[in-house]
Amino acid sequence: MVGIWSLRPTLRRRLRHGLDAATTFVRANCPDSTRTRLRTALAKQEALRRVAMLVAHGTTPPSETFWVVCRELGGLLDADYAAIARFEPERMMCHLAEWNDPSVPAMGVPFGGRWPMGDTAAAAVYETGRSARRASGSTAGELGEWLRSHGVSQVVSCPVIVHNRLWGELALRFLGSRPAPADTERRMGDFVELVACTIAQAEYRAELIASRARLVTAADAAQRRIERDLHDGAQQRLIALGLYLREAETNASDENEALRRSLSSAAKCQSDVVAQIQQISCGIYPTTLTQMGLKGAIKSLVRHCPVRTDLHIRIDRRLPEPAEITVYYVVSEVLANVLKHANASVVHIDLVATSGDDLRLTIRDDGVGGADLRRGTGLIGLQDRVDTVGGTMEVSSPVGGGTSVVVGIPSSALDDPQGRP
Ligand SMILES: Nc1ncnc2c1ncn2[C@@H]1O[C@H](COP(=O)(O)OP(=O)(O)OP(=O)(O)O)[C@@H](O)[C@H]1O
Ligand SMILES: [Mg+2]
Repeated sequence: MVGIWSLRPTLRRRLRHGLDAATTFVRANCPDSTRTRLRTALAKQEALRRVAMLVAHGTTPPSETFWVVCRELGGLLDADYAAIARFEPERMMCHLAEWNDPSVPAMGVPFGGRWPMGDTAAAAVYETGRSARRASGSTAGELGEWLRSHGVSQVVSCPVIVHNRLWGELALRFLGSRPAPADTERRMGDFVELVACTIAQAEYRAELIASRARLVTAADAAQRRIERDLHDGAQQRLIALGLYLREAETNASDENEALRRSLSSAAKCQSDVVAQIQQISCGIYPTTLTQMGLKGAIKSLVRHCPVRTDLHIRIDRRLPEPAEITVYYVVSEVLANVLKHANASVVHIDLVATSGDDLRLTIRDDGVGGADLRRGTGLIGLQDRVDTVGGTMEVSSPVGGGTSVVVGIPSSALDDPQGRP
């Protein structure tokens, strides 16, 4: 049934109508036992559909999806508690989600959310890779005591396998003397797969962000090297050359006016080349950031921008280097775009980064609009950069209505571990 979401909407509608018709027919014509079976099957499909929708959208945080899985599965199989935990090295388990039937008191999370498996049902799953059930009476140690103190009589645990690797468990706990139905493990199967899908999706996303971050960091390091080489190598030699030229100009005899003029032109040309190299190396890697901080570096960008700019910056400290570089490149690229494409009369830049809050940068022009990320590499490159610091970037650019770029960086990415002044 999970695969139903890969069908076209029309097919899905027809399938749903067919199911509804079949349900009505069975309700009218079938014996009670068949009706009960059908009701159970439909309830399961409904619960699976709700979870599958969350997984398919891929935007819900895994912790929330895990909680919905616990709620749906616990409710469907009439369990009192449902929980998801990850297996960790040295036979430890880490709590990730828990649900309890509203009619029973919450159990809470044992031992600060991380505990040894001991000889629980989870331990059997860990050793065999198969589902297992265990009576709390036969569970030794602190964990057994904890389960019994909450009235849990039985635990049924199923393995969650992600990319052929045993990842953790999905467990149901039952109160009182009533044993869990015999087919509990089988009925948990589809839900376990959805949990595995959610984890695989989250892992892919994390890997993708990490690999983009590696690319951006490597590119920054390479650019910084080029900037250093230009500064310490070519630029220093040119400066020395300038000194020699000025010296030669001074020493040229008064009679040789032509030589003096040539040396003066050569010296002028040399200082232009040095200025040009400084400009190029600043574009390769923004040394202004190191020298002036983010506020100063942005002011310098704005000073060189021929379009009228309305600038508001509120920053109360130095930010971590990746965040500063990201913001700098966003301002630099968006201003370059305004010059190249917008035909705007004014640009508004608003940057707020105050302690404890998320950073927010808004750049808005009153130009022709119609910006499209697929038509170049600048805006896409910014998206990559912003993603690697865990931020968000939104571009809004209706044709004829100007362009606005809004970047947010979470405060968690702004806590500077190096404590820059
Ligand atoms: N402020 C703007 N106003 C109007 N159009 C814009 C604006 N910014 C971008 N665009 C449009 O969106 C496209 C994509 O921008 P992007 O910066 O990605 O590429 P680019 O500037 O064309 O090239 P580059 O890869 O050198 O940055 C541009 O080609 C342009 O058509
Ligand atoms: Mg561009």
